[in-house]
Amino acid sequence: MLDGYQLMVPGPTQVRQDVLDQMMLPIVPHYGRDWTAYYNETLDLLRSVFRTKGKVFPIPGSGSAGLEAALSSMVERTEPLLVLSNGWFGERLVAIAEGHLDRVLVERAAPEEPMTADRLRDALARHPEAAAVAVVHSESSSGLLNPVRELAAVCQEHELLFLVDAVSSAGGIELAVDDWGIDVCVTASQKCLESPPGFGIVAISPAGWKRIASKCTAGWYLNLHVWDEFASSWADWHPYPITQAVPSFRAMRRALEYIDAEGLAARVRRHAAVGRQVRQELGNHGFSPVFDESTASPTILAFLTPSGCEARRMVDALREKHGILIASGMGTYKECAIRIGNMGVQSSPEQMKPVIMALAAEGSGGCVV
Ligand SMILES: Cc1ncc(COP(=O)(O)O)c(C=O)c1O
Repeated sequence: MLDGYQLMVPGPTQVRQDVLDQMMLPIVPHYGRDWTAYYNETLDLLRSVFRTKGKVFPIPGSGSAGLEAALSSMVERTEPLLVLSNGWFGERLVAIAEGHLDRVLVERAAPEEPMTADRLRDALARHPEAAAVAVVHSESSSGLLNPVRELAAVCQEHELLFLVDAVSSAGGIELAVDDWGIDVCVTASQKCLESPPGFGIVAISPAGWKRIASKCTAGWYLNLHVWDEFASSWADWHPYPITQAVPSFRAMRRALEYIDAEGLAARVRRHAAVGRQVRQELGNHGFSPVFDESTASPTILAFLTPSGCEARRMVDALREKHGILIASGMGTYKECAIRIGNMGVQSSPEQMKPVIMALAAEGSGGCVV
């Protein structure tokens, strides 16, 4: 069965019906005066999610398309990039970068160790040649949050370009691209933006673009210099190089209107409050959070299963017996942890209540499917 489950995985997330309804509207051209005005308003809504006055590029594709566009456009092939990796998606940054760059330097930490400012300083002392740094904000594979604000400050001290993978954080966790000094930030439509999958979205701060604009980078579809060239030369009717994915774009626009109406600060508070509540309640039922509150991502809630309960069996039991989809851990947490998405529509006491009840029942019963 594909349908009918309560979707509580760490992405994709639930999408409101009227957001989905936007995808049923008749197709309209992705160009022309009216469409371009609508597109530009939507870019403004995206700018407020990233908290930037800079450039935003919504690229049809997934989050990885956004990451590939960002990584391949922000540095030239011969410039060394330092990737800070403490999880599965950190390794994704490495893999994407290695496809484009001659030198990818990698600072690895264990999945339970956040990438601190001191660690970055040490890595830079060993790699003074680095031209840019990249890191994942909310490491969705484990539920660890990296302190990107502190990392951005170190990058500013060293005058390095700084990229943040905010795929599971933008729109749900505090993030301020311009104020924190993040140069390039990437998210995807299907997580905290509570939209259907379909867009990798790259934001570049005004300061970041000043340093990136003159770079000579390869590629066409995912080359942000090509996107920027069309954004100015075709500004009044078709401000991008490709056919936009009109139905998904309209859905994302409607979802962004909800985000705007809620207000970003209130939204960040909501995700944090629901995350805390779930930690407390599941803690009472024998599920210990994988990370303490200071390093746990508020949007990807990860818990060690009670002893004797394999994570995979717990996930199966929730699906088969309770109609709820959650995920097991990844990498080192595959067998022993479960992950619950707390993003967008998922992030409410009403959505979490059945999940907590089901986990409590299965945890006490040894999760027999
Ligand atoms: C932190 C993070 N980075 C990158 C990705 C890759 O995004 P996509 O699967 O949309 O390509 C994901 C997807 O879950 C993610 O959580």
